[in-house]
Amino acid sequence: MPTSLTLQPIGFLRTRQQVKFQAGHQPSAATEERNELELLPDCGYEDALRDLAGFERVWLLWWFHRNENWRPLVLPPRGPIQRRGVFATRSPHRPNPLGLTPVPLLGIAGRTLLLGPCDLVDGTPVFDLKPYVPSFDAFPDARAGWIDEVDAAMSEPPKFSVTLTPTADAQATWLRTHWSINFIPRLTELLARDPSPHRTRRIRKRGPTHAEIGCGAWLAVFTVAGTAVSVLALKPAYPMTFLLREGYQDIPDRDALVAFLAQWPTPPAADRVAGEP
Ligand SMILES: C[S@@+](CC[C@H](N)C(=O)[O-])C[C@H]1O[C@@H](n2cnc3c(N)ncnc32)[C@H](O)[C@@H]1O
Repeated sequence: MPTSLTLQPIGFLRTRQQVKFQAGHQPSAATEERNELELLPDCGYEDALRDLAGFERVWLLWWFHRNENWRPLVLPPRGPIQRRGVFATRSPHRPNPLGLTPVPLLGIAGRTLLLGPCDLVDGTPVFDLKPYVPSFDAFPDARAGWIDEVDAAMSEPPKFSVTLTPTADAQATWLRTHWSINFIPRLTELLARDPSPHRTRRIRKRGPTHAEIGCGAWLAVFTVAGTAVSVLALKPAYPMTFLLREGYQDIPDRDALVAFLAQWPTPPAADRVAGEP
């Protein structure tokens, strides 16, 4: 038996989701998101796509190319803080980092597939496509172990209310209007469920009263009082010296991060976290 196998991508996903934080944990039917999968030229894929258009959904088999390691036990982002065996999860941190996503197929033009909501980031290599066949692939009544328990808990309304201070609100509006960057809905969803420190959710304590959550290339500083979460300020996850360094031009949102730091060089005094520069 071979100990390693070589696969070639058939194409790459094109999406507005540039960083992992922006991609859902699974595709969200609630979004109007449109994505494209462009298959490689000169491989005969136009013929390989024949007869696929009649299927409402396709399975994408793809590679978590932005991951570098795997762990036998992982901390899922949803539910209580409890590690699970990676094979009992859909975590990206797998020995062979293969992703599996069923997506709506909206159209096919030549070698390009127009797709609905996905959970992949831009540039993700795709290895295979298969039609989604409900009679083969759907078992809605099958047990789903620990995920059933988490789903039952998640069906309750969120326990925390999340508000933005005027500073954070002005920063969010500036990012949305000048740079079309908007991570506030996802940030609000995560903090409303549970703002406690969590490695996978990238929430960590910053001093006795403050905490911060990583949102891709951005951070949001917040406090919690009872069930009220107050987002005090947004800020880049990188210092200016790092952003301007040679060879770091590919950092997601880099130009927006630099412009943001020109506008808000340090966190406003009232929102500054104890111990921060
Ligand atoms: C929880 S995984 C589930 C993927 C797939 N539906 C599955 O079940 O195999 C989805 C997450 O993978 C991450 N992700 C998406 N594209 C990635 C990539 N190319 N490399 C690494 N991580 C990626 C994003 O954080 C996204 O929220």
